[in-house]
Amino acid sequence: MSKSSELIRGNLLSILADNTFHSGETLGARLGISRAAISNHIKVLSSLGLDIFSVTGKGYSLAQPLTLLETHKIREQLASTHTADIEVLNVIGSTNQYLKDKSIDINNGHTCLAEAQTAGRGRHGRKWVSPYAASLYLSMHWSFAGGYSVLGGLSLAVGVAIVEALNQCGVQGLQLKWPNDIYAQGKKLAGVLIEVEGQIGSECQAIIGIGLNVALPKNIQEIGQPWIDLSHLSDPLIDRNILAGTLISELTNTLSLFESSGLEPFINKWRELDIYANQAIKLVIGQNTVSGIGRGIDTSGAILLETQQGIKAYHGGEISVRAI
Ligand code: ATP
Ligand code: BTN
Repeated sequence: MSKSSELIRGNLLSILADNTFHSGETLGARLGISRAAISNHIKVLSSLGLDIFSVTGKGYSLAQPLTLLETHKIREQLASTHTADIEVLNVIGSTNQYLKDKSIDINNGHTCLAEAQTAGRGRHGRKWVSPYAASLYLSMHWSFAGGYSVLGGLSLAVGVAIVEALNQCGVQGLQLKWPNDIYAQGKKLAGVLIEVEGQIGSECQAIIGIGLNVALPKNIQEIGQPWIDLSHLSDPLIDRNILAGTLISELTNTLSLFESSGLEPFINKWRELDIYANQAIKLVIGQNTVSGIGRGIDTSGAILLETQQGIKAYHGGEISVRAI
C-alpha cells in the first residue's frame, strides 16, 4: 500500500468520522482528487472491514462514529514515568509479526497497535478477524531473563490483566477460558496470543498479542464461533484510546510482577474468573479428547480435570478446552 494512498485514506476517514453524509464531489474537492478516486478509496476501506454506506444523491457515511487511535491520547492514561515506546500503525499484517521483526532493538513494554490487520492470527495459525478501527489489536514486547521455562501461565496472568483493565473502564461480567480467551455472556470477547523466541535457560523474547473486540461491523461473518464486542457491554461505548492506555498500563504492571513473582499473584483472581469451574468439559489434545469436570488451575497454570481416575493436571499449548 503506497504511503500517499494511506495518507489520503487517513484524511478521508477523518472527514467521514463525523458520521454524516458527504458527497463524492465534496470529498474529492477537499482532498484534491477525482470522485472516481474517492470511490476507489472507499472500496479499499470497505474491504478492510469499515461499514460505509453509499446513498445515491447523498454520498458516503460511516455506519458508526469513528475515533481513531492517537498516541498522545493513549499516553494521557499512562503515568509520566511510562517511557516505553507506543507505536500506532494504520493497516499492517499482524502487530505480533511487526514486533517480532524488530524485537532485537526494542525494550520491555514497547507496544504497537494497528487500526486493522490483514493477517491477524490466533493460536495454531487460526485467523483473528481484524476489521478497521473496530477493536484493539495490540502487541507488547517483553524479554524474560529465565528463558522459556519461566513463561508457564503467562497467558493466564495476561487474561487477568485484560479483565482488570476492562473493569477499570466500567465493563463487568467477564470470564476467562483457559488458556487464552476472555469471555462475556458466554461469547468470545478477546484473545491472547503469546509468541516466544529464545532458548531454554537463556533470555527469551516474548511478544504478547491481544485482540479485543470493541464494535465489530454488524454483518461480520467470518468468525466461526459465538463472539461479542464492547458495544454490548458498555454504554456509552468506551473510547478506544482510553481503553488502550488503561490496558497498556495494566499489562506493563502485570508483566513486571510476573517477571519477579511468576503466576502466584494472579492465581486467585484467575480462579474467580474461570468460566469452566466445576463444569463438564472436554480437553482436545491433538486427535484425542479427555472428558471430565473442570477444577481450575494448579500453581503452574496447568488446567485441572477431574475424571473417575481423580484430578490430573494438563500442560501444553496443544490443548483446547470445550464445554460438553
Ligand atoms: P482455543 O481453545 O484452542 O484457544 P479458539 O477457538 O478460541 O480455541 P483461538 O486460536 O484461541 O481458538 O482463536 C482463534 C479463533 O477465534 C478463530 O478460529 C475464530 O473462531 C475466533 N475468532 C477470530 N476472530 C475473532 C474475533 N475478532 N472475535 C472473537 N473470536 C474470533
Ligand atoms: C486467540 O484467541 O487465539 C488469540 C488472538 C490474538 C489476536 C491478537 S490481535 C493483536 C495480535 N496480532 C496478531 O496477529 N494476533 C494478536
